[in-house]
Amino acid sequence: MPTAVERFDDKARAAFDRIGRNEVYQGELQRHRVYTRFLHWMVAVFFFLSLFSGFGIYLPWLFRWFTPLFGGGPLSRALHPWFGVLFVFFFALQALNWLKPMSWTKADSAWMRRLRSTISGEEKLDPPDTGFFNAGQKVQFWEIVIGCVVYLITGIILWAGARTFGPIAVAFSYILHDISAIIMLGGIFIHMYLSTIGEPGTFQAMTRGAVSEAWAWTFHPAWYKEVTGRDPRRAYEEARQRMEAGRSK
Ligand code: HEM
Repeated sequence: MPTAVERFDDKARAAFDRIGRNEVYQGELQRHRVYTRFLHWMVAVFFFLSLFSGFGIYLPWLFRWFTPLFGGGPLSRALHPWFGVLFVFFFALQALNWLKPMSWTKADSAWMRRLRSTISGEEKLDPPDTGFFNAGQKVQFWEIVIGCVVYLITGIILWAGARTFGPIAVAFSYILHDISAIIMLGGIFIHMYLSTIGEPGTFQAMTRGAVSEAWAWTFHPAWYKEVTGRDPRRAYEEARQRMEAGRSK
């Protein structure tokens, strides 16, 4: 029997599929549906609005030049918490949407142990048991979940101020809020690199919602096997042989 969260997500996915389009061509697989893509880009927009409006509050002497984007210093300060609330709101919906594929498995622990050889490119394909998301993506996801909780608690304390919560709570909140922002920003830089230049073919997963089969058998072999029923390593070998035969013609 589906849970309330699953029923909510199913309804939202179906409703968004009626509004938007999923374009999947021959030799491609559907990766992210409209609802997931909508949430992802809402999260990204409010993440960067929070970040840029927050810079001017964090280090005004260095980042003052960001504040005109939001109509000046006082308006940046007034808008920042609202951007933050919307970031957390959309990410909370995405967290519910991704709860199942983001759950940790034994294969993820094994992926972490093989991280060095995966990064060094010794292996052409990711480990065969890598599913819809790999362990690195899951670590980042759960880091953002924790970060959102930290932002929410410390953000409310900073918003209400020392009169409500006292100066010590405010001082600690500043430190935790900023540490969380720095960690998340570092992770997002890596994420942006991997989703574009680092792993070519990934970006279209969040635009059109589809990826090539070659992308799927390279980075997420177990997911490829699950949706096509075919062996990823065999598919890779066959494609390689076809390419070599084409070259020698
Ligand atoms: C603007 C730059 C960004 C780009 C180009 C980008 C691109 C992508 C792409 C292509 C995917 C799909 C990966 C896959 O299907 O395997 C993805 C997933 C994801 N994105 Fe982004 N994204 C950006 C910003 C953000 C931001 C700001 C956040 C959150 C603060 C975020 C959080 C996530 C998460 C949690 C996932 C799922 C796991 C993962 O792939 O790491 N993204 N993103």
